[in-house]
Amino acid sequence: MAFIKRYGGAAPAHVGFLVFRNTDGALCGVFNFSEIVRNAFNSAYLGYYAFAPHAGGGLMTEGFALVLDVAFGELGLHRVEVNVQPTNRRSLALVARLHFFCEGYSRRYVKIAGRWRDHVRFAMLAEDWRRLRRDVLARLKWPSSDRKRSTAG
Ligand SMILES: CC(C)(COP(=O)(O)OP(=O)(O)OC[C@H]1O[C@@H](n2cnc3c(N)ncnc32)[C@H](O)[C@@H]1OP(=O)(O)O)[C@@H](O)C(=O)NCCC(=O)NCCS
Repeated sequence: MAFIKRYGGAAPAHVGFLVFRNTDGALCGVFNFSEIVRNAFNSAYLGYYAFAPHAGGGLMTEGFALVLDVAFGELGLHRVEVNVQPTNRRSLALVARLHFFCEGYSRRYVKIAGRWRDHVRFAMLAEDWRRLRRDVLARLKWPSSDRKRSTAG
């Protein structure tokens, strides 16, 4: 409920997406665009997590590509930023599969579990995605006719 309240309402600063598996409707993961700033920026931060039983099968890669398509399409964003702890191997692999650009290293960026943690900063721009999307989508597991999209925002 808290997710629906925060990301499902009219609040334009946050848009959330749920990833469902087409074969059985299982809820597999979540993508949240937050701190959406309009006008000269049109930027957002993207956070995500998979639900343990469904991790490691490529569904988050698939979901990620689909939400980027919405971000740079319907949402009209120009920049999507992702910040990843240098030790988060799976998340680093995920952004690499989507061809995010590494833009820098933010020291003591976010306080997590009581400690300031360094993060690696990645970004995708609308013009990057226009160039990359065909290749990324072509490498996904499921044919486009099989994809459905769900969004809470
Ligand atoms: C980060 C996170 C979302 C990554 O999820 P994931 O399950 O690794 O991502 P995917 O569902 O795309 O699965 C990728 C795996 O499936 C494999 N795979 C199988 N078919 C695939 C396909 N068609 N396309 C892509 N990958 C595929 C990949 O090779 C990869 O396996 P590997 O790690 O053994 O190489 C997940 O680890 C997580 O929720 N972590 C905790 C929260 C977190 O860290 N969030 C991010 C904060 S920055």
